[in-house]
Amino acid sequence: MSAVILDGKALAFRIEARLPERISALKDSGVEPHLAVVLAGDNPASHVYVRNKQLACERCGIKSTRIDLPNDVSQEDLMRVVADLNANDSVHGILIQSPTPAGTDELAITEAIDPAKDVDGFHPTNLGRLVMGQVDGLLPCTPAGVMEIIKDAEIDLLGKKAVIIGRSRIVGMPLALLLAQKGIDATVTIAHSRTEDIADICRSADLVVAAIGRPATVQADWIKSGATVIDVGINRIVDESRKSGSRLAGDVDPSVSEVAGYMTPVPGGVGPMTISMLISNTVRAAEMRLG
Ligand code: GUN
Repeated sequence: MSAVILDGKALAFRIEARLPERISALKDSGVEPHLAVVLAGDNPASHVYVRNKQLACERCGIKSTRIDLPNDVSQEDLMRVVADLNANDSVHGILIQSPTPAGTDELAITEAIDPAKDVDGFHPTNLGRLVMGQVDGLLPCTPAGVMEIIKDAEIDLLGKKAVIIGRSRIVGMPLALLLAQKGIDATVTIAHSRTEDIADICRSADLVVAAIGRPATVQADWIKSGATVIDVGINRIVDESRKSGSRLAGDVDPSVSEVAGYMTPVPGGVGPMTISMLISNTVRAAEMRLG
């Protein structure tokens, strides 16, 4: 059997295609959705992510402002940038690209963002709403993108077993809440680096989400025949046969496609969805301000 490939890139474009109508309505009301992206330091992957986020803003007709800060930026300076963006009424969304440089306190920076402008959905207020079952606000982008992929493929998780590998505050934890919410009704296990018998746990799952950050970790013999496998990993690995000398690989071994029923590719799966959720959140933040 060969898995149906869940094309996140195509879905992302379909979601983005629905936005211009809402953006026009906002502009008719005198509001231009505006995302501010703060990139501190010289992490090469972060530069690529931020560039892709800005390109998506351009594609969708959203204003974006990028603020580049040096690797040795102080906590005080970062906090001042956030305070200025909070106070700037023309800005609807604030994104501080993670990770922030060594020596800075990323959680304190996240908490300083106005929750109404928190288009990453990482602020405790927004994560707290999610815990309370309020899923109509600003949701974390990668988990929201995973949920859109599952919805679009009409995969029914009622009463099914879902295993998320990875317990990050950006992906694993919020995704567990979204999968367990009323109306989706999955039974969720969060596995992580200390989990025993992880392959066994995955083998019983109808859905496996890999958010580990280590290439080709999930193997074909971890997966039940016909299960859905969502690969959140974006790992750059050396590949001398490529002109660039490297390629992207997910957390899931490609051989899994011979066992799974549905599977997301890397690239072209969850990554583009994360970006379209960010743009959607920025539009939503502007709409919420308008009331
Ligand atoms: N770094 C990796 N993923 C993300 C994300 O979704 N948002 C931010 N701000 N930084 C990230």
